[in-house]
Amino acid sequence: MIDTEYSDNIEVMITKEEIAEAVKKLGAKISEDYKDKEIELVGVLKGSFVFMADLIRAIDLPITLDFISAKSYVGTQSVGAVKVYMDTELDVAGKSILLVEDILDTGRTLSVLKETMLARGAKDVKIAAFMDKPSRRTIEITADYCCFTIEDRFVVGYGLDYDEQYRNLDYIGEVIL
Ligand code: IMP
Ligand code: MG
Repeated sequence: MIDTEYSDNIEVMITKEEIAEAVKKLGAKISEDYKDKEIELVGVLKGSFVFMADLIRAIDLPITLDFISAKSYVGTQSVGAVKVYMDTELDVAGKSILLVEDILDTGRTLSVLKETMLARGAKDVKIAAFMDKPSRRTIEITADYCCFTIEDRFVVGYGLDYDEQYRNLDYIGEVIL
């Protein structure tokens, strides 16, 4: 655990040990569910990259992976649109796509990306969200796989940022302003 002034105003919510256990369990479940399918994981940058790195190593199947960079957020405030900054490289047509996201909040980002993957001919699209804040949802969408469901709190670490900071914390914390 990083112990500097940098993280002095962060309160630990989920430890790195709890994260490791939850991700391992999720990987085992995905391995079971997808054993006869051709799975491609598509990580939503930037927040998902840490979760993605751990999740793929917990999946005991042949996989391919890709990334898409999209966001619907500025600071802690939600904005209307979803912007794609960088698109996927691989063809999704005919594949079972698992969208990998750091946190499912209003649901805007993932609903847009899910529709996009289906429009490109994906066979099926499911969602693996590291965290879920169901009370914040403005669009009806659910995570097929999720490690932690939390209240309406703003969290950082394990890839998640507050104005691009704190992605490198190895635990999930809450910013105390
Ligand atoms: P949605 O489109 O509203 O579901 O937004 C999801 C995105 O908002 C996530 O991928 C995060 O980048 C960001 N986000 C939502 N809640 C949090 C949070 O508590 N901490 C950090 N980022 C968050
Ligand atoms: Mg963000």
